[in-house]
Amino acid sequence: MNRKGIILAGGSGTRLFPVTMGISKQLLPIFDKPMIFYPISVLMLAGIREIAVITTADDQAQFQRLLGGGEQWGLSFTWIVQQSPDGLAQAYILAEGFLAGAPSAMVLGDNIFYGHGLPEMLARAGEKIDGGTVFGYHVADPERYGVFAYDAAGRVSAIVEKPKKPPSSYAVTGLYFLDGCAPARAHRVTPSARGELEIVSLLEMYLAEGQLEVERMGRGFAWLDTGTHESLLDAGNFVRTLQNRQGMQAGCLEEIAFQQGWIDRAMLAVRAELFSKNNYGRYLLAVLERADQ
Ligand code: DAU
Repeated sequence: MNRKGIILAGGSGTRLFPVTMGISKQLLPIFDKPMIFYPISVLMLAGIREIAVITTADDQAQFQRLLGGGEQWGLSFTWIVQQSPDGLAQAYILAEGFLAGAPSAMVLGDNIFYGHGLPEMLARAGEKIDGGTVFGYHVADPERYGVFAYDAAGRVSAIVEKPKKPPSSYAVTGLYFLDGCAPARAHRVTPSARGELEIVSLLEMYLAEGQLEVERMGRGFAWLDTGTHESLLDAGNFVRTLQNRQGMQAGCLEEIAFQQGWIDRAMLAVRAELFSKNNYGRYLLAVLERADQ
C-alpha cells in the first residue's frame, strides 16, 4: 500500500499575534513562498502524491485558493477540518478514513527542513512498512519541543514534551513516518494535563513496543523554527541567502514535480508564465530550458 501524506496546518497561531489574527501561520511568507510549500516539498521528496491537508474551518478556503486540487504539481489533496486544536495525535484520528490502513508521513505545516541527503533519509524512512521513524535534531533550546531521553547505552528511553529540564539537546522534529496502525493507536491516547492528544504519547506507544526508529539529522541539516517573530524572519533570510548564493530554489514544488516526472513540460510552462513577473517564474523557465538542452 502506498504511503500517504498528512500536512497538519491548523492551530490558532497565538504566539505570532497580531500577524496571525487575519491569516493562518502556515500561509505566511518564508521569503518568496508560503510557509506550507516547504513541508509539502518534503512529502514530495519522499515520493508521496496523496496528501491530506488539515486546517481550521475558517482557514480552509484560503488554503484551497492557494493549493487547488494539487494537479499543477501532480498531487492530489484531500481536505480535512480540525474543529479545535486538540493535539497533533488527533490528526491521525481525523485522517483515519483518508489513510484507509496505509502507512503515512505527517509533517507539521510550519516545519522547514533543508539539507544534503534529505531525499535519501526520507527514502530510508519510507521503506519501513512496520513501526515508525522520527527524526532528532540538536537544538539550543530543547525545552520548547518534544525531547528524546537516552539510556546509558545511547538508546532512546523516553520522549518528553516541553520538559522544564530537558534530558538531552535532541528535539523531535515535526516529521513522523508511522505505519498503518497509527489511527488505531491514536484512539488510545488520552488527553494530557494541557488537554491535548500529544504526539509524544503516540510515539511512546511505538517506543514501548520497540517499533520506533529514531534517525538523527546531523549538523549539515537545517531544521528551521518559525515559532517566534524573530525566527520567522530568520527562516526567510536563510532561504533568501541560500537561494541567492546558489541560484537554486528551496521548496520549489514545480521543480520537484517535474524532476519526479509527475508534471510535463506544458504544465511547467504554464506555471512559469503565471509567475513570469518575478524570480520564481524566471527560475521555472530556466528549469524548462535546461530540460530542453
Ligand atoms: O515543531 C516540532 C514540535 O512540534 C515537536 O517537537 C513537539 O513534540 C510537538 O508537540 C510540536 O510542538 P509545538 O510547540 O510546535 O506545537 P504547536 O502546538 O505549536 O503545534 C505545532 C503546529 O501544529 C502548529 O503550526 C499548529 C499545528 N497544530 C497544533 C495543534 C496542537 C494543529 O494544526 N492542530 C493542533 O491541534
